[in-house]
Amino acid sequence: MNKTLTILGLESSCDDTAAAIVRMRPGHAPEILSSVVYGQEELHTVFGGVVPEIAARAHAEKLDICVVEALAQAGVDLRGLDAIAVTAGPGLIGGVMSGVMCAKGLAAGTGLPFIGVNHLAGHALTPRLTDALPYPYLMLLVSGGHCQLIIVRGHDDFTRLGGTIDDAPGEAFDKTARLLGLSQPGGPAVEHEAAQGDANRFGFPRPLLDRPGCDMSFSGLKTALLRARDQVMDERGGLRHKDRADLCAGFQAAVTDVLAEKTRRALALYLDENPPAPNLAVAGGVAANTAIRAGLESVARDMNAGFTAPPLALCTDNAAMIAYVGIEKLKAGQVDDMTLAARPRWPLDLHSPAMLGSGKKGAKA
Ligand code: KG4
Ligand code: ZN
Repeated sequence: MNKTLTILGLESSCDDTAAAIVRMRPGHAPEILSSVVYGQEELHTVFGGVVPEIAARAHAEKLDICVVEALAQAGVDLRGLDAIAVTAGPGLIGGVMSGVMCAKGLAAGTGLPFIGVNHLAGHALTPRLTDALPYPYLMLLVSGGHCQLIIVRGHDDFTRLGGTIDDAPGEAFDKTARLLGLSQPGGPAVEHEAAQGDANRFGFPRPLLDRPGCDMSFSGLKTALLRARDQVMDERGGLRHKDRADLCAGFQAAVTDVLAEKTRRALALYLDENPPAPNLAVAGGVAANTAIRAGLESVARDMNAGFTAPPLALCTDNAAMIAYVGIEKLKAGQVDDMTLAARPRWPLDLHSPAMLGSGKKGAKA
């Protein structure tokens, strides 16, 4: 399809309501004309995690506002669009349904084609949106709800090499913050504390590093942190600032080591295939962590692979990534019709067995 394509994307699979317009002109890099994200953090904070029913209602209330803002910021009206792309899974089903219903309504009203997009494909293809990364590349997708190492060969061709068997790393950061009385989301708060801490004071485990393969586990780390915290509290009658910083630094170092070593193994498997331009890319909120990013970058450097990390706003949930996958699907002639259903689970790699685990932010596979 050799023409300019302008696509509206919608995202509502977890706790961010988002709409974006992305345009692709033949021979040019994709252009994000607008990207509107309404977070729901304050709605869920008191409950200590995302409440699916509250999330779904908030999405239903905000989606149309997001669409109007995204169109206005892009200076495009509905007639200027070529298609509507929407996250159709995986995620919290009420939120996904809100988005799919909104997209169907817009498609029915305008006659535009509409395209159901896998949320994980959105993250996985982000380095193509931001850096025009050629296929195939190795992706570490690491967020509050997901943790997977995948070879991305095409917009619907993925090979999963490994992933978490329990918590996602972002979830572990959030739980760590809660255990230490830090603010949510936990990742930035723990990273901030860790910067002043001694990573060697507490000997936290490196789960599953003694086993072959690329699967990971983070729930044991959280238990180890709880034990270490309680021991300090018993001995000293409370947590000093230094204790908290040392606990955060030790935890972050353990997560970094696990992610780096498992990524090293996955990179070796991917490099065995002799890709023409070997590249490691990261996406997801946890990729914002400077220590983790540095650990991954040094793995790529050691193994002579390129390293791509999209800007933070496009690492976390957004609709530009959904619009972008919509463009690739539209070019491949893959459009949906009104029978499209929201899917709570939708693995990227249809050939590997499903992963265990489904955390507070929904299904991981
Ligand atoms: O991709 P994202 O916005 O949402 C999904 O989970 O899909 O990721 C949010 C997660 C949260 O768990 C948050 O604590 C974590 O990413 N995060 C971080 C950092 N910034 C955000 N984790 C570690 N270090 C950070 N600097
Ligand atoms: Zn996500």
